[in-house]
Amino acid sequence: MPDRDPAAGALLARTVVTPRGRPPVRGSDLGRPVVIEGGAVAWQDGVISYVGPADGLPDDVRPEVLEGCTIAPGFVDCHTHVPFVGWRADEFEARLAGTSYRDLHGGGGIFRSSRLLAEASDDEVIDFCRPLFAEMAAHGTTALELKTGYGLSLESELRQARLARRLAEEVPQRCVVTLLACHAVPRDVERADWVRTACTQLIPAAAAEGLADAVDIYVEDIAFTLEDLAAVAKAAAAAGLPLRCHADQLGASSAAEAADALGARSADHLNHVSVEGIAALGRGGTAAVLLPTSTFSLRAPVPPARALVDAGAALAVSTDFNPGTSASLSMPEAVTMACIVYGLTPHEALTASTLNAAWVLGMSDELGSLEVGKRADIVVLDGDAFRQVPYRPGHDPVVRTYVGGRSIWQR
Ligand code: NIG
Ligand code: FE
Repeated sequence: MPDRDPAAGALLARTVVTPRGRPPVRGSDLGRPVVIEGGAVAWQDGVISYVGPADGLPDDVRPEVLEGCTIAPGFVDCHTHVPFVGWRADEFEARLAGTSYRDLHGGGGIFRSSRLLAEASDDEVIDFCRPLFAEMAAHGTTALELKTGYGLSLESELRQARLARRLAEEVPQRCVVTLLACHAVPRDVERADWVRTACTQLIPAAAAEGLADAVDIYVEDIAFTLEDLAAVAKAAAAAGLPLRCHADQLGASSAAEAADALGARSADHLNHVSVEGIAALGRGGTAAVLLPTSTFSLRAPVPPARALVDAGAALAVSTDFNPGTSASLSMPEAVTMACIVYGLTPHEALTASTLNAAWVLGMSDELGSLEVGKRADIVVLDGDAFRQVPYRPGHDPVVRTYVGGRSIWQR
């Protein structure tokens, strides 16, 4: 007898739920996923071959029955700052005592993570990060973004991108790498000089070596300007890479509307997005990436999520996982806060944390929803409907996680 194909399987659950529509899903469509009571999902060679009512399964397919559970697409975390090495819990404590993130930026913050990265060997960085991916699997993350931005020099940024690629090869989740070419102005370098280096050397070098799938920039009064954003947009376009932007996080800078005007794939954070920014994201091709655990951790103003939905924006929800502003890698927690703190409905948060997040990463043709022909990236949740996820803060609802039809986590 031939071995059973480990990348083939079938599951039957109380509920199967998956986003509906062409990505990126916008506005009121976010909250209208397909919900199948008594649904089943089957796959072969790691690719979904059936999604629908259990009684429509081919006769020869015997699904495993998961009583009282919900099957959903795996979570896609489209904004993380992995790889990094070392935590900054003392900064968190200092912030609780009244020190601001801006204050910490002088001696700690991004510069501290940059120092820690520089002091660690490649193997130390990989050894620090590896268990984080296992923890992500336990929280249902099946695909994610890795970012640079703690290198802060040409060579160190390229090193961080290579480490990201090395991790991507080793871990079960699908990963893409974003070159956060402009994150903080390196010490003893003029801002304009660093932007020039990033645009004329770093971005072209990373692209030539195949190290980056997108380019990001942090627009903020402590970081880079709208002019810098335009320069980076040009360099990214010349390298054939999509642009992403940390926009309006600590203060208003009109970065969201500027990113949209430059054709960015996403504008992320948006705590201080302007009325013009909301309108631009509502009609444009730029996704609005919401990062509620970062808002929660910084006790920052809540972005106008409902106004963005009403304007027709394509929302994504992710973790912003990093040691400074968002030490949570849990997508269920991001979904919970997207609902409780930002006011999304559970179904809006589902679409935003799966299919739309996959679109942001350029992966939505392949994954992000349960559709015949897509990769069998699946989570099994322990409640009878997706709303159980935000309903139970602090509970990890993930019973099983599959990537390409193979189990990478089982409770
Ligand atoms: O997305 N604000 C810019 N970058 C990160 C934080 C990086 C850090 O503090 O290490 C963010 O919040
Ligand atoms: Fe970020």
